[in-house]
Amino acid sequence: MPVITTIQDLKEIYKRRVPRMFYDYCESGSWTEQTFGDNISDFAKLRLRQRVAVDMTNRSTASKMIGQDVSMPVALAPVGMTGMQCADGEIKAARAAAAFGVPYTLSTMSICSIEDVAAATDAPFWFQLYTLTDEDYSDRLIQRVKDANCSALVITLDLQILGQRHKDLKNGLSAPPKLTAKTIANLATKWSWGLEMLGTKRRGFGNIVGHVSGISDTTSLSAWTAEQFDQALDWKKVEVLMKKWGGKVILKGILDPEDAKMAAKLGVDAIIVSNHGGRQLDGALSSIRMLPKIVEAVNGKCEVWMDGGIRSGQDILKAKALGATGTMIGRSYIYGLGAMGQAGVTKALEVMHKELETTMALCGHRDINDVTRDILYIPEDFEGRWA
Ligand SMILES: Cc1cc2nc3c(=O)[nH]c(=O)nc-3n(C[C@H](O)[C@H](O)[C@H](O)COP(=O)(O)O)c2cc1C
Repeated sequence: MPVITTIQDLKEIYKRRVPRMFYDYCESGSWTEQTFGDNISDFAKLRLRQRVAVDMTNRSTASKMIGQDVSMPVALAPVGMTGMQCADGEIKAARAAAAFGVPYTLSTMSICSIEDVAAATDAPFWFQLYTLTDEDYSDRLIQRVKDANCSALVITLDLQILGQRHKDLKNGLSAPPKLTAKTIANLATKWSWGLEMLGTKRRGFGNIVGHVSGISDTTSLSAWTAEQFDQALDWKKVEVLMKKWGGKVILKGILDPEDAKMAAKLGVDAIIVSNHGGRQLDGALSSIRMLPKIVEAVNGKCEVWMDGGIRSGQDILKAKALGATGTMIGRSYIYGLGAMGQAGVTKALEVMHKELETTMALCGHRDINDVTRDILYIPEDFEGRWA
């Protein structure tokens, strides 16, 4: 068993274990992947301020996200097709998150269904909703989320149309994978993944197959999803969805201060500064760069979280220092899941927690809730001067 000390270690095992099609699906951004890359590299521009001779006993990373206790200010982001990275992946990730004391978000485009995850876990999870044109299906989906006792609805706003990721087109991405000469050749080298997949019945889009009339196979499903994302989405529709749900709401995919103000006006519990991990508008600025302006614009009216590019506990601390009261991680836990299943997600969380706690202490703090901008050296042009 290799010694795993970083998220990068997990990524390398993940790359060896999981079919190329699903590795590429995860490890890509749209078009030139500029924003995907910036999300990561902009974190590295922020530097830390070393402090000494400060009592660092009794350290705590515990805090709250929308009133919920969390062992560190991190939630697992919704990731479509997680159950293709590892058999029953959503259930395994949700279990690892619950045991670690952080929230799990199930994607609309998951492989395990809402009911599957609810039956296999004790802690309430969050559900991520795409806004869809099929109102009847959308209403039934919201009812299923209520029936599963999900504790918050995460409404994703940055995917009315799909940003193009070249590799997915070239690989013919589907769930389950279609058996072409190329996929068979690749699958032949991924035995442990394949054996585990044969051991589960969950290999299609669990929230959709069987719940939408006229959908009997995944081929028609992909056509359905392309047609179903609501291109006519506007703030009024967001308000209607919030009313239908009636519980805690988190709006995901906000990258502009004006949009953040609109969201806060609706009375949401939290917004997530996000560019979908660089998978939608290529050329958009990184989430960490946009964070300070959005925190300022919202002015405490709702919680402001961020995601995109977090690959270490240091990144979580930097986001916290720039004003995010919470963060989400996507790829970092998927690497762990693909590498080692549930234990790999736990490992990813452990690695990040240790990095977070140690860095916080070396910056002179023992309670994450006391961390401010003071721990950072921020380049003068970090937010950029844009005309
Ligand atoms: C493979 C993959 C699938 C994703 N699927 C969804 C999804 O179904 N719904 C959603 O709101 N966001 C989705 N996202 C975006 C994530 O929720 C999150 O915003 C992003 O992964 C954060 O960036 P990071 O991966 O650098 O941490 C997906 C991201 C990835 C990498």
